[in-house]
Amino acid sequence: MKIKNENSKENLKRRDFVKGTAIVAGGLMTGMLPVGVGAYANPSAKKLKLALVGCGGRGTGAAVQALKADPNVELVAMADAFEDRLEGSLQNILSSNELSEDRKKNVKVKDKAKFVGFDGYKKAIALADVVILATPPGFRPYHLEEAVNNDKHVFCEKPLATDGAGIRKVMELVQKSKEKNLNIVVGLQRHYQKKYTELIKRVHDGEIGDIVSGQVYWDGGGVWVRERKPGQTEMQYQMRNWYYFNWLCGDHIVEQHIHNLDVFNWAKKAYPVSAQGMGGRQVRTGKDHGEIYDHHYVEYKYEDGAYLNSQCRHIKGCMNRVSETIVGTKGSMDSSGVIIDRNNEVVYKHRDQNDPNPYQVEHDLLFKSIREAGMINNLEYGAQATLTAIMGRYATYSGQVITWEDALNSTKQLMPATVGWDDTPPVLPDENGFYPVAIPGKTKVI
Ligand SMILES: NC(=O)c1ccc[n+]([C@@H]2O[C@H](COP(=O)([O-])OP(=O)(O)OC[C@H]3O[C@@H](n4cnc5c(N)ncnc54)[C@H](O)[C@@H]3O)[C@@H](O)[C@H]2O)c1
Repeated sequence: MKIKNENSKENLKRRDFVKGTAIVAGGLMTGMLPVGVGAYANPSAKKLKLALVGCGGRGTGAAVQALKADPNVELVAMADAFEDRLEGSLQNILSSNELSEDRKKNVKVKDKAKFVGFDGYKKAIALADVVILATPPGFRPYHLEEAVNNDKHVFCEKPLATDGAGIRKVMELVQKSKEKNLNIVVGLQRHYQKKYTELIKRVHDGEIGDIVSGQVYWDGGGVWVRERKPGQTEMQYQMRNWYYFNWLCGDHIVEQHIHNLDVFNWAKKAYPVSAQGMGGRQVRTGKDHGEIYDHHYVEYKYEDGAYLNSQCRHIKGCMNRVSETIVGTKGSMDSSGVIIDRNNEVVYKHRDQNDPNPYQVEHDLLFKSIREAGMINNLEYGAQATLTAIMGRYATYSGQVITWEDALNSTKQLMPATVGWDDTPPVLPDENGFYPVAIPGKTKVI
């Protein structure tokens, strides 16, 4: 796969990030015809062909949810770097107890529509009306570009990139995809979760006043490790154990903590001007732990002077907490589901009454919108949340204050120009099998 750095727009400013999308928002008023099924006499009867790119845990789940969302969705193509992942995913979809026998009949992936390797995504996308993009995030900007250029509706997982160069590409696609009236749902599922939509609506309605600070957490024990197997090339190993390599994953502050950072941006209707922080790896230091940190603390500053304190940790045996607290001049919101006033009185408590699964809601609304010629497009806030997380990593790795522009205009592209099985990955182990790890005060990140 050729991946070129085509991000010629150097030195993007904060206002450019907003301007590109504002122009498009105006453009929408002109009422361009959507790409989709709106022109059909009976739009709900049209078969929508679905392709899955990245057939891992999340991609498999998303494919099941897409099939569940709409009786006329047919899974017709699948692409994965590895054949065993593709075949395993297909078997899991076919044996899923989430799907009725009728829905399973909509799985119509012929052998010639199974694509293995780095270039398969193009062939799978070509066969579909709607695509699911669920590879590791380093590939996302390029896969999104292929989908948008070919007028496909998209469900794509977060994060949207692992570096500033990737975000610049996604930004270009925000405008382009809106001009084409493409529906693009990004897997930041809190936006589709009733508890959060109720809480944030109240915050936007002024129940906690002006937001002055926040605390967000993803502190947990960490995720899987896929150990090196005898006979693997370095590229095969890194592609299997992708979580621990920044060109593929972006570190856990990007891959996982993005959810919590996104909630604060969402509530604040803003994104940070700068970040500074600290982090390192104290416990997760083995050869199979690649180059990522096991903890980050970041202080984000917003244009109006508000601060967000963020922490994420992947260390077993410590306090576990995944939450967001947003503090305003009149009270605060906590993601456990409550809003309190300045006297600690509960002014709202969300009661989960079998709230629908947000992962399913993402697909229900995506396909409804495609059928009704509507437009859901989450790319802009997806890009902002991703860059917020990336600037946090730049801050902890460097120990410096990193501005939004620094992160956005970073010329250090993690994703290599080409990716193929015979290529050398961008980061390599030393003679003892250990990978270089960022050292604050020394490492140049942008
Ligand atoms: N929204 C959520 O709550 C949530 C939960 C889990 C994962 N995710 C996201 O989903 C994505 C995938 O995560 P996962 O847990 O399914 O990982 P996974 O390792 O289970 O699956 C990733 C799959 O992509 C394949 N792949 C890698 N590069 C590829 C390429 N260039 N072309 C085609 N296939 C390629 C891999 O072989 C693998 O099968 C990540 O971005 C992750 O952050 C989101």
